[in-house]
Amino acid sequence: MSTQIDHLMNETRKFAPSVEFAAGAVATPDLYESAHANREEFWASQARELLHWHTPFEHVLDWSNPPFATWFADGELNVAYNCLDRHVAAGNGDRVALLWEGENGDERRITYAELTAEVSRVAHVLEDLGITVNDRVAIYLPMIPEAIVAMLAVARVGAVHSVVFGGFSADSLRARIDDAGAKVVITADGGYRKGKVSALKPAVDMALADRGNGEQESVEHVLVVKRGGNEVEWHEGRDLWWHDVVPAASDEHTAKAFPAETPLFILYTSGTTGKPKGIVHTSGGYLTQAAFTHLNVFDLKPETDVYWCTADVGWITGHSYVAYGPLANGATQVIYEGTPDTPHPGRWWEIVEKYRVTTLYTAPTAIRSFMKIGRHVPQKFDLSSLRLLGSVGEPINPEAWMWYRSVIGTDLAPIVDTWWQTETGAIMISALPGITATKPGSAQVAVPGVSIEVVNEAGETVANGDGGLLVVTEPWPSMLRGIWGDPDRFVETYWEKFAAQGYYFAGDGARRDEDGDIWLLGRVDDVMNVSGHRLSTAEIESALVAHEATAEAAVVGAHDEATGQAVVAFVIIKQSYLEAHSLDGLAGALRAWVGEQIGPIARPRDVYIVAELPKTRSGKIMRRLLRDVAEGHEVGDTTTLADTMVMATIKGQVTKAK
Ligand code: PRX
Repeated sequence: MSTQIDHLMNETRKFAPSVEFAAGAVATPDLYESAHANREEFWASQARELLHWHTPFEHVLDWSNPPFATWFADGELNVAYNCLDRHVAAGNGDRVALLWEGENGDERRITYAELTAEVSRVAHVLEDLGITVNDRVAIYLPMIPEAIVAMLAVARVGAVHSVVFGGFSADSLRARIDDAGAKVVITADGGYRKGKVSALKPAVDMALADRGNGEQESVEHVLVVKRGGNEVEWHEGRDLWWHDVVPAASDEHTAKAFPAETPLFILYTSGTTGKPKGIVHTSGGYLTQAAFTHLNVFDLKPETDVYWCTADVGWITGHSYVAYGPLANGATQVIYEGTPDTPHPGRWWEIVEKYRVTTLYTAPTAIRSFMKIGRHVPQKFDLSSLRLLGSVGEPINPEAWMWYRSVIGTDLAPIVDTWWQTETGAIMISALPGITATKPGSAQVAVPGVSIEVVNEAGETVANGDGGLLVVTEPWPSMLRGIWGDPDRFVETYWEKFAAQGYYFAGDGARRDEDGDIWLLGRVDDVMNVSGHRLSTAEIESALVAHEATAEAAVVGAHDEATGQAVVAFVIIKQSYLEAHSLDGLAGALRAWVGEQIGPIARPRDVYIVAELPKTRSGKIMRRLLRDVAEGHEVGDTTTLADTMVMATIKGQVTKAK
């Protein structure tokens, strides 16, 4: 970490926006001024300007019971109406909303009028299945238009969606279905990934299989989109084909208004314990900030731009910057089903050329993997339509930033490095294109209306040039409203550390430079960031100890050139297992096991079988020392270890395994 920081401290390049870009930019400097003058009034006017309110609000923020906030609470709106019908009513029904590209080359163009009709049909289907306000619907789909349709249809009837990334296992899906008590699951037979059909429905069947413990299953129906064409098992009475019920439903559906604090979705994310947290977002405040940031950070010109965010809807980026932000703003966007290198390594650039994409929003891990392949691949395509580039999910190293700018942005397109989290709901820190002179590697400044500080452990703001912890000092419209079913955990996780100041603690380390710009330095807790995906050390450890061979496990996130961090596991094998089995192939089997338990993204890069783990006298595992071993550094201070020799033993065992 320290070499990374030293490296960043020496980064002084700056890129001012071009005169032409600045002249035509959507964002103007007075946004900062008006937000600064009156933050609440600023958000109120954004909410009024950017959204349609069936019942206008009077109250802006209620912060009388912190950390439980409400925004625009006496206003009423329908989120789907805001993303669909009102664009049709404004005469933009023929504008393309979705330009969908299947991995296998299938294509669909869906206008706002068509999307409104399809969402209306699905809203009827959901209502016919008994779904009403506050009911939960799980969505487990590939990146196909139906994923967006399903989210909007759930929102339209006032229900709450819980999208589960298609790469998660049946067990992870089951845990999320159970926690939320979902009544309906929307899935597909399968989707295309890496040139093959990857099945989804069997995971739903497994998740819903009889548990034999007499527990009542919350799920009543499974709605299945046909995409992969793979064989699926069918549960009569429970399962319904989308193509049987949706086309038969009416395409006229009245969008009822719901109070602004109606929950819109739950999205599970990893924390420091083994159990993922169900982050709850509500309607009016969330949509306001998603729309505001999408418009201003991406300089959206809805009539001419073709926007493409490469995130899957299973993550928060896919919620705020594929589904809600762009559609609330009436944007035209590309959605791609598959992997970046299928069937060839230039697939993304081929898509940029084909659809004349103007705005690309992606993750540093993708940029680094393209860098590794080489510039000759993107350079085979015409990327001249690109005028703005975005980055999200993890710190972007200056080398990757410069490569992104020069190779993909042909030295012209500004880059916005956007910092935010599942919990924050929308972008919190980012340059505004046309205003901010950008710096490779720095996320830079809080967006207008958001208050960020870097503080020390005592909650005091650090001087420019110093490092500390990132906090949000004032409530913001798209802030999480809680953790589903666990208000205590919400308070403990985010608000207890700086309770005296009333700050939200993000879990990230940060530094302000001499200009006051913010540089993100990674997580300071036991949360890892692998390819921009959040993973919990505790969750992977509990998957490892669920294997019959494992007595104990410790997991760390080690620096990795390609993925930012990589999962590295240290496991102690049970004596009884050692007596009966050989260790050959066990490390590989444990890697695969984690993949099956949680999902392939959680599979450790390395599993080391060791005799002991470094523990303090009170029995706490010192992960920092294991990280040193995994990264091949000198092992740090071991004086607090109960047994100071243990690190030498572990190092010996790891070296042998390597
Ligand atoms: O550590 C930060 C990192 O990703 C975490 C949030 O992860 P998640 O909730 O999955 O949301 C990811 C997409 C918004 C943060 O705590 N992170 C996100 N964006 C950046 C970042 N780190 C540095 N720079 C960023 N731009």
